[in-house]
Amino acid sequence: MSLITVAVPKGRLFEQTVDIFLSSGILKEKLKSESRKLILETDGFRFLLVRAKDVPTYVENGVADIGVAGDDILLEQQPEVYKPLDLGIGYCNIVVAGKPEDREKYFSNPSVLKVSTKYPNITESFFKEKGIRVQIIELYGSVELAPLLGLSEFIVDIVETGRTLKENGLVVIDNIRPSTAKLIVNRISYKTKRNKITGIINSIENYISVNT
Ligand code: PRP
Repeated sequence: MSLITVAVPKGRLFEQTVDIFLSSGILKEKLKSESRKLILETDGFRFLLVRAKDVPTYVENGVADIGVAGDDILLEQQPEVYKPLDLGIGYCNIVVAGKPEDREKYFSNPSVLKVSTKYPNITESFFKEKGIRVQIIELYGSVELAPLLGLSEFIVDIVETGRTLKENGLVVIDNIRPSTAKLIVNRISYKTKRNKITGIINSIENYISVNT
């Protein structure tokens, strides 16, 4: 039986993915990520625990057969992979945020907006479609600091609970789109391990359709 390698972000999405695999009957026993091990094996599966934004790289290169990645990351990176399934987990919104007092500036058609973000491609295409010119400042994290320190007026980021914005005195100014986690599949694995991968997709699809 061929081993299926799955690239999953460490943390909450890993736990939720394992729960879906268990509930769908794909996995027989619960996998725990309490240790610092980055490769966990069980029931013919090998789980790679990686950074969320690295999941598409592992799947695109075939190091992993399948993976779990949010729309935010998929839209930003546009990897060459199959996206057969919305897992309905990892729900968040991709938004433009800033200080409440800058809301008016945003809507008053300024010539150029300064925007800090981990998502330069999403930011560029969103504002291009709106016909607004932007100067994009790329950051790797804690993006909410940018408007507080005057690095930029606005940020484009994901909002899950809204706590980070709230605790830093920022508000959502514009909505870009919602994001959920997708199952992604390497194009070659989809052919060479077709039976197994189709079985996984069907099992998860059945589970989701009965439980939503
Ligand atoms: C993400 C995102 C926000 C925060 C939103 O950051 O970039 O900062 O989570 O979550 P909330 O709405 O529930 O507060 P992450 O935790 O990945 O850290 P980072 O800033 O280092 O990327």
